[in-house]
Amino acid sequence: MKTMISNIDVNNIDLKELKKHSKLLSEGKTVIFPTETVYGLGANALDENAVKKIYEAKGRPSDNPLIVHIYSKEEVYDLAKDINEKAEIIMERFWPGPITIILNKKEIVPKTTSGGLDTVAIRMPSHKIAREIIKQSGVPIAAPSANISGRPSPTKANHVQEQMDGRVSGIVLGGDSNFGIESTVIDLTGDIPMILRPGSITKENLECVIGKVDIDPSLAKKEDNKKAKAPGMKYTHYSPDADVYIVSGRQENVIIKINNLIEENTKNGLTTGVMCLDKNKHKYNCEVLSLGNTLEEVASKLFDTLIQMDKQNIDVVYSEEFESTGLGQAIMNRLLKSAGYKVIKA
Ligand code: TXA
Ligand code: MG
Repeated sequence: MKTMISNIDVNNIDLKELKKHSKLLSEGKTVIFPTETVYGLGANALDENAVKKIYEAKGRPSDNPLIVHIYSKEEVYDLAKDINEKAEIIMERFWPGPITIILNKKEIVPKTTSGGLDTVAIRMPSHKIAREIIKQSGVPIAAPSANISGRPSPTKANHVQEQMDGRVSGIVLGGDSNFGIESTVIDLTGDIPMILRPGSITKENLECVIGKVDIDPSLAKKEDNKKAKAPGMKYTHYSPDADVYIVSGRQENVIIKINNLIEENTKNGLTTGVMCLDKNKHKYNCEVLSLGNTLEEVASKLFDTLIQMDKQNIDVVYSEEFESTGLGQAIMNRLLKSAGYKVIKA
């Protein structure tokens, strides 16, 4: 497939160029565009044939539902029913932004979009290019992360171009994503709201405005993972070619343990990479990719770092562990999945 690729400056959007892509979307074709979380692979959410093209382009299982992206809050009432007060508060407080709400769907949303479920996931993104392209296309846009299924989500223009050229009708390149991990997904159909995928809007942030929030308990352990309530959380995900491990324990022990493992790998002819906080990068005796100093930096660099490890043909990657509250919860969720839940105790 011939892909139309455009570079758009987010601070000076070329509307004429962007219109070519929204036209593709209104014609039932697929277009990749940047959002504030990760790049999305979009198509008209209300057109089953268009949505099927998303599943094909990603190689995604058809029972894994898509997030519907909207331009204005009012569109929620066209797509979903039983919209409760907690949903209204979240929309008011956090939209546009990196949170997706799950509500009971109306008939208009095809089952192809909802992966056969009676619910629909909806998000109003804040990224200027995403907002403009959705507005111009005139329809709600179903958009999963724009990676081949199972791979790390794309957060930079080059990730998209390298993976997806030829698989979609259009690609809008618009620089780096701000947050770097996908939106928080929260199910609002039960009595107590439940986070099905942690993200930049944390449990703590949500509890401040809507009271008690649960987290899907099956996210914590590999054994429970097949019971995950968001179908997408069951699959292998964020996996680079390299074998990833998280090394957990007291910092000084983690450093000793990883350096011992590096020595062993070198003897066995394997190249090793380490992902760590910037302050520790001089302490390891191998290829080190710093994830930055703050949790925000770690979140924004995580997927790119995993992708870079593959480019450097690294066989084994060790990552330091991060705290599991606040934004750390989303980071550890992605790291555990990319490591296939392999944790080494130091
Ligand atoms: O930040 C994001 O959310 C990005 C950007 C492009 O907006 N999109 C994204 O979509 O991450 P995707 O398809 O890669 O992840 C959506 C997740 C999957 O785990 C899916 O199973 C879950 O949300 N999901 C979608 N609809 C659902 C529903 N009705 N019930 C339960 N889980 C749902
Ligand atoms: Mg995804």
